[in-house]
Amino acid sequence: MLAELACFERQCRARFPIDETIYNCPDCGGLLEVVFTADRVDTADWKKLWRARRTSNDPIDQSGVWRYRELLPFDGHHHQVVSLREGNTPLLDAPRAARYGGLDRLTFKHQGFNPTGSFKDNGMTCGATQAIRLDRQRVACVSTGNTSASMAAYASAAGLDSIVFIPHGNISYGKLAQALEYGARTLQVEANFDQILALVRALADRVGIYLLNSINPFRIEGQKAIIFEMLDQRDWNPPDWIVLPGGNLGNTSAFGKALRELCQFGFIHKMPRLAVIQAEGAAPFYQFMKTKQAFHAIADPKTLATAIRIGDPVSWPKALHELTVTNGTVEKVTEQEIADAKAVIGQCGIGCEPASASTLAGIRKLTAAGIIRADEDVVAVLTGNVLKDPDYIYRYHTGELKDPGGRKIDATLGNRPVVVPNDANAIAKMLES
Ligand code: F0G
Repeated sequence: MLAELACFERQCRARFPIDETIYNCPDCGGLLEVVFTADRVDTADWKKLWRARRTSNDPIDQSGVWRYRELLPFDGHHHQVVSLREGNTPLLDAPRAARYGGLDRLTFKHQGFNPTGSFKDNGMTCGATQAIRLDRQRVACVSTGNTSASMAAYASAAGLDSIVFIPHGNISYGKLAQALEYGARTLQVEANFDQILALVRALADRVGIYLLNSINPFRIEGQKAIIFEMLDQRDWNPPDWIVLPGGNLGNTSAFGKALRELCQFGFIHKMPRLAVIQAEGAAPFYQFMKTKQAFHAIADPKTLATAIRIGDPVSWPKALHELTVTNGTVEKVTEQEIADAKAVIGQCGIGCEPASASTLAGIRKLTAAGIIRADEDVVAVLTGNVLKDPDYIYRYHTGELKDPGGRKIDATLGNRPVVVPNDANAIAKMLES
């Protein structure tokens, strides 16, 4: 399909060529999105084609993003695709988590199964491909961990130079390790995510970098495929609710756009509702949605769920639109609620990183409030892998975890490791008790 960039602001809607390197509307400063001019959409044929590609050995078909390339803005550029076989993430039933969340049934779409361990890979494959298409050699991002690991991997796979900017001291070692291992030039800045993003946006043109944060509309395009794949896996039966964590709100924007396009082109005939969950200490979008007056950023966001520790989410205007269109909702959850929900997801044999667990904590609150009904069909998106924050896990299970204010988090579902002597009798006795 023909594609252009369009200003997201309803009163502007200026259009720009798809290969212009811009992150905001040059006319009004609004966010940008990709828009398609549909020439022909044969939904039945495309559904069949996408299903058939699952058995193909062509790398581009094996990608859970590029399999749906008819709904991505890269016509004529498929030979430039940078893929690590992202997507292909499972839908997992979780009865124990369903009970905890007050639901009859709950399914997780687990993005932690991606090549670098998070949903960022879905977006990054498109962001890196756009960098190649634009002939840009140098890419950069600001990150609390997952984006940097993902960008570093895709940049190296594509032969690009990558620079990651991360908040000094506020990123998990696992993620920092990935950025280093994949060869990114890694700058630890003494500031928080929002401050560094402002810094890097000011630097972008000056040092010739192509920015791969979710303000980049091509990242959003790739993340749409999480929804395409989820619905394909459900034989195009939309759930009642899709629940996800909200940080910078790029994923919320991507999910809403994907659902709008699927409805517009006739792939689905019912719009699922989006439920965005934020951490209590980093919930500017929650605050805004309560009143829908002016949007107020939070100068010093606080949560142990570092992935959503964002006080000034760039994509809030898009997220507002997507929640309006999907008749969605937003909830906030405490550190204790996130930690306990995370342990429940672990007890399902699934596991996830802290931000992802906010989904189950949010579902529990939303069912208790009667906003989600027990018999509704709910998919929660786990955005990252359980190994992102091993230190957090160890501390929770041993009762040492403290919230950002220094208050102890109860090890409600703690599972403490036990030191034993090298003595079969003593161990047998202990296991019998
Ligand atoms: N979940 C995980 C695991 C994340 O890494 C992020 C964002 C989010 C949720 C929030 O998604 O911003 O689209 O609302 N992580 C960014 C990073 C900030 O740098 O990796 P969002």
